[in-house]
Amino acid sequence: MALASESRHGLWSGRWLFVLAAAGSAVGLGNIWKFPYIAGENGGGAFVLIYLVCVAAVGIPIMMSEVMLGRAGRASPINAMRTLSAKANASKLWSYVGWMGVAAGFLILSYYTVIAGWALNYVWLTVQGAFEGISSDSAARVYADLLADPLQMIMWQTIFVALTIWIVGKGVTKGLEMAVRIFMPVLFVLLIVLLVYGFNSSGFDQGLAFMFDLKFDAVTPQTWLIALGQAFFTLSLAMGAMMAYGAYVPEGTNIGSTVVVIALLDTVVAVSAGLAIFPIVFANGLEPSQGPGLMFVTLPLAFGQLPLGAVFGTVFFVLVSFAAITSAISLMEPALAYLVEEYNAKRKRVAVSLGVICWALGLGTVFSFNIWAESYIVGELNYFGFIDYVSQNIMLPLGGMFIAIFAVWVVPKDILKKQLGLRKGWQTLLWKFVGGVVAPLGVLAVFVSIILPLFVG
Ligand code: PHE
Repeated sequence: MALASESRHGLWSGRWLFVLAAAGSAVGLGNIWKFPYIAGENGGGAFVLIYLVCVAAVGIPIMMSEVMLGRAGRASPINAMRTLSAKANASKLWSYVGWMGVAAGFLILSYYTVIAGWALNYVWLTVQGAFEGISSDSAARVYADLLADPLQMIMWQTIFVALTIWIVGKGVTKGLEMAVRIFMPVLFVLLIVLLVYGFNSSGFDQGLAFMFDLKFDAVTPQTWLIALGQAFFTLSLAMGAMMAYGAYVPEGTNIGSTVVVIALLDTVVAVSAGLAIFPIVFANGLEPSQGPGLMFVTLPLAFGQLPLGAVFGTVFFVLVSFAAITSAISLMEPALAYLVEEYNAKRKRVAVSLGVICWALGLGTVFSFNIWAESYIVGELNYFGFIDYVSQNIMLPLGGMFIAIFAVWVVPKDILKKQLGLRKGWQTLLWKFVGGVVAPLGVLAVFVSIILPLFVG
């Protein structure tokens, strides 16, 4: 069985298109509402250093593994794992690693589209100047009203899902590539605009100190787990996304150096997001926070108090929406590619079917904020909490670990050498040590520390 040099879905038009697409997948809500705050809370500059170690020692090797497996298999994650395990005469069970990634990505997509819908709603609100001069109570009320109104949420979720279907349905070149060609440069420009705005605000020094002062006394073993979990999520690992995108990487592209560029871009955006957001928050004497509270209450409130706040607030929510759409398309692509391959089906049709299923699954998330808020599936996890927990805390670490093990120890040597361009003995040794030992053990540590407390109590 020869390995294909083309995928039936097409190829990226060049190395830089792949970089843009993969960075589009990586840069998302995780960079904007999570990284800045967890960095500030968990040691500032000390956290940033630990995070960089996690990206280098675990994130980059696993991303390289995914891209390499995708390119070697030239198919969706499930079929790539199938082909490669057959080539290696290894167990068929390896294809389940592909399945798990595709499933995790799809589950995450189902709620990602709901939250991205909120961002669209906020674009609409900021354009109208809805937050100008608003009080903190009113800002909190706007958000609470949205969450209490399923129909409103469903409307925005529907728009976002439709947009995702439309882009993904058009294919690799005309859909995915077109989207990242437009959205990513705009995203970078908007981020720079916000950075300049933050730089000129009176809270810049405080924002800088919050994120970068070296607070080593805040560092505990827990900090490493948080950093590693963040690295995983933000680099879009173990969700099939990078493997699916890897299948479209042209032969001549050097995987190692390209992946390093993608990880760097993602980190630069995460740090810049913090430097754009926190000065604005501090300039208003507000407390930093994270997650939806930061994005949908604190920031609208802060923008509402500043000169030209309506303009820059709109800029911010457009940026968030763009970041989310380029991530969402990468979450749909793995399942879509698989169905197209398996049933020889038309891309557009599959996109619509998958979109509808994802939309329906997302309704559970919509209701988790209102009518089902206290319907618990296990413990204190409602529908949204459960999907989020299972996909992020169980499927991701397990998937990541197996992907690295497969890529380093199972894939036949000739494929490995060719894909990664390993020429010298030390390169192979480094790959085996970091990719095959450090990365899986690092992930295992996270997994055990999440799972163990469930049993030990
Ligand atoms: N990396 C994205 C973020 O930071 C989330 C994501 C995960 C996107 C997996 C695609 C695949 O928000």
